[in-house]
Amino acid sequence: PDVITVQELANRMAARAGEVVKALFRMGVMATITQSIDADTAELVATEFGHRVRRISESDVEQGLEGEADTEEALEPRPPVVTIMGHVDHGKTSLLDALRKTDVAGREAGGITQHIGAYMIQIPSGDRVTFIDTPGHEAFTSMRARGASVTDMVVLVVAADDGVMPQTIEAIRHARAAAVPMIVAVNKIDKQGVNLDRVRQELLQHEVVVESLGGDVQEIQVSATKGTNLDKLLEAIILQAEILDLKANPNRAAEGTVLESKLDKGRGPVATVLVQKGTLNQGDIVVAGAEWGRVRAIIDDMGIPLTGAEPSEPVEILGLSGVPGAGETFVAVEDETRAREITEFRQRKAREKVTAAAGAARGTLNDMLA
Ligand code: GTP
Ligand code: MG
Repeated sequence: PDVITVQELANRMAARAGEVVKALFRMGVMATITQSIDADTAELVATEFGHRVRRISESDVEQGLEGEADTEEALEPRPPVVTIMGHVDHGKTSLLDALRKTDVAGREAGGITQHIGAYMIQIPSGDRVTFIDTPGHEAFTSMRARGASVTDMVVLVVAADDGVMPQTIEAIRHARAAAVPMIVAVNKIDKQGVNLDRVRQELLQHEVVVESLGGDVQEIQVSATKGTNLDKLLEAIILQAEILDLKANPNRAAEGTVLESKLDKGRGPVATVLVQKGTLNQGDIVVAGAEWGRVRAIIDDMGIPLTGAEPSEPVEILGLSGVPGAGETFVAVEDETRAREITEFRQRKAREKVTAAAGAARGTLNDMLA
């Protein structure tokens, strides 16, 4: 199969396309600059131009991205990444806002200025916790569909006056499928006549057994609006994090997951990423999905520019060539050549998929016409 256009090949060799056409002609291949040629022919031409060719296969790319495994000594504790889920109106956003006010760093000058759908707070004990806000469950689902695992635990918000509802059940399923532990936050306990036993029984019906019923799921009763028991919820999160013994090596090239991305009019492609390994530094060359770029700026959840971001830190990055999809992985690579190799490989894969899908669609259309 043809893998590269004459123009692309010329670009990569920093040669004139006309020269490549001539070289091909000498080899008995007639091609215009927009035509594609196969890998063997491209390799011959490249060798002719004095280049050493290294073909990359899928496994090379994946190996390259996996990098070397970290030794036990290289691992250092990292903050937990917590996703808040639950039924509509059960108080997820209110709870996130309330928790954010417990940030002792007190960086905010009034109000909640959440630039990105994820943020890190430092709690009075000195521990840090990263919260991810997944609007609806779609983002979470699409991330899991791409095989991305970003969350260490789920806080399931259940309104005491409403109990277990359809999206509560969905959230339970998500947490289970992701194989992450769950903490139940029974919210709105300030309301009149709430029946906590009923909530526990409903959870039990979905095999979520809270501690008071002899299970191992921590249950915290909170009121987001009154600020009740937020400290207890944070304690439960820290306890769960200790059990999980979360670690990562901060001293390596950064790797992580794209949480969301957008094309900003003034700033260009903006990706919100979660660093999961290593330290992401300004100036790093990163590949995110099928896009790449030099990290021009790293911005935290308060809109403050940073020079670097460590494991479990959610940040916005600027400088990518395009907008990567949510759930795509990103990785810092050694140089631009490597970044180009990987992204071109991925873009080609993506194009092949589209072509294959179009072929399949044509097939079905022909079947219908036959
Ligand atoms: P969606 O994002 O639409 O799924 O809703 P949500 O889960 O984020 O709920 P949100 O935080 O927007 O709260 C929904 C309503 O419940 C708002 O009117 C809140 O003021 C109210 N609410 C949230 N927490 C509490 C609480 O602890 N007590 C009481 N009484 N009301 C609450
Ligand atoms: Mg909300």
